Amino acid sequence: MSTILVTGGAGFIGANFVYLQLEKHPEDRIVCIDKLTYAGNLHTLDKAMQSPNFRFEKIDICDREAVFAIFKEERPDIVVNFAAESHVDRSIENPGVFLQTNIVGTQVLMDASREYKVKRYHQVSTDEVYGDLPLDRPDLLFTETTPLKTSSPYSSSKAGADLLVNAYHRTFGLPTTISRCSNNYGPYQFPEKLIPLMIANALANKPLPVYGEGLNVRDWLYVEDHCKAIDLIIRQGKVGEVYNIGGHNEMRNIDIVKIIIKALGKSEDLITYVADRKGHDMRYAIDPTKIHNELGWLPETMFAEGIQKTIAWYLSNKDWWEKIVSGEYVHYFEKMYGERLKKSQK
Ligand code: NAD
Ligand code: TYD
Repeated sequence: MSTILVTGGAGFIGANFVYLQLEKHPEDRIVCIDKLTYAGNLHTLDKAMQSPNFRFEKIDICDREAVFAIFKEERPDIVVNFAAESHVDRSIENPGVFLQTNIVGTQVLMDASREYKVKRYHQVSTDEVYGDLPLDRPDLLFTETTPLKTSSPYSSSKAGADLLVNAYHRTFGLPTTISRCSNNYGPYQFPEKLIPLMIANALANKPLPVYGEGLNVRDWLYVEDHCKAIDLIIRQGKVGEVYNIGGHNEMRNIDIVKIIIKALGKSEDLITYVADRKGHDMRYAIDPTKIHNELGWLPETMFAEGIQKTIAWYLSNKDWWEKIVSGEYVHYFEKMYGERLKKSQK
C-alpha cells in the first residue's frame, strides 16, 4: 500500500488521475491538495470524497508551511504534481502567477519531498516546452532530447520547472521523473480550452472563435490515456528520466471545430475567425517511442471515439460546466474575446 500525494487534483487531468488511481489501485491512499483557483472545482471530486482512501485539503503548493505540514502528517511515498496555471492565453495576460505556481510551487514540493524522503517525485510537464514545429515538415517530431525552446510565459514557466526538477535530481539525488504530454481532451476540462469551449459555445449557438486561420496543429490525446501513462511512469519508470506522451494524432484546429459542429448538428456559420494568439505555436507533435519501448504504453482511445465520448460527457453533465460559464467566466470571456469578436464582425 502506498500513499500518493496528488496536487491539482480538482483540475482537469488531476481529477481524471485521481479516479483512475482509486479504480486501479484501491489499496493505495490518495491525498489531494489543490488551491482551488478558478480552474479547480471541488464538485469534480464529489465521488472521490466518498472513498475512505481519499483525502482532500485546500492548500496552495507555494505555501511552504502548509505543504510541509501535510507531508509530515501523511508521509507520501509518491508525489505527482499536476498543480499549475495551465492556460496559454491567461499567461499572456498575466505571466506573474505562472512563474509563482509553476516554478516556485514546484520548488516547495520538491523541498518537502527531500525532507520527507519520498520515493518518487513526478512532474507533469508538457510538450510545449519544446516550442513548435513547422507545418511543412511532418517528419519532425519532439523527442525527449529535443532542446527546450519555449514561446509563451506558460511554456517558459513549465520549462523552468523541468530544469529545476533535473537539478534536484542531479544535485540532491531526489528520485524524479518528468512526463511531457501533448494536448489532452476529455471529461472535466475547463471550458476555456479549445474543445470544451467550442462544445459549450456551439450548444449555446454562440460564435466559435478560431484564432488566425485555424491551421495550427495540435497532437490530441484522450485524458485517460495520459493518466495511464503517468500511472506506469510512477510505478515502473526509471528515476531521472523524461518520458514524452502522445498518440500520433495531429489535427488542425479548424478540423476539430468542424467535427464538433457536425456532431452537435450546428451550422458552420458559427465559425468566427478572430485575431491570432500572440506568439502562437504552429504545430506540436510527440514521438512516444521511448514510453512505448520501455514501459509498453500505447494510447487506447482513438480520436474518433474519444471526441464522441467527450461531447456525450458535456451533453450529460451540463450542470458541471453551465455553472462555470455563467459565473466569473463571463467576464473572462468578454475580456479575452470581446474586442476580437467585434473586430472580426466588421
Ligand atoms: P487545470 O488548469 O485544469 O487544473 C489545474 C489545477 O491546479 C486546478 O485544480 C487548480 O486549482 C490547481 N492549482 C493552480 N494553482 C495552484 C496552486 N498554487 N496550488 C495548488 N493548486 C493549484 O490544468 P490541467 O489541464 O488539468 O493540467 C494539469 C497539468 O498537466 C499542468 O501541470 C499542465 O501544465 C499539464 N499539461 C496539461 C495539458 C493539457 O492539455 N491540459 C497537456 C500537457 C500537460
Ligand atoms: P488550447 O486549448 O488553449 O491549448 P494550447 O494552446 O495549450 O495548445 O488551444 C488549442 C489550440 O486552439 C491552439 O492552437 C489555440 C486554438 N484556440 C482557438 O483557435 N480558439 C480558442 O478560443 C482557443 C481557446 C484556442
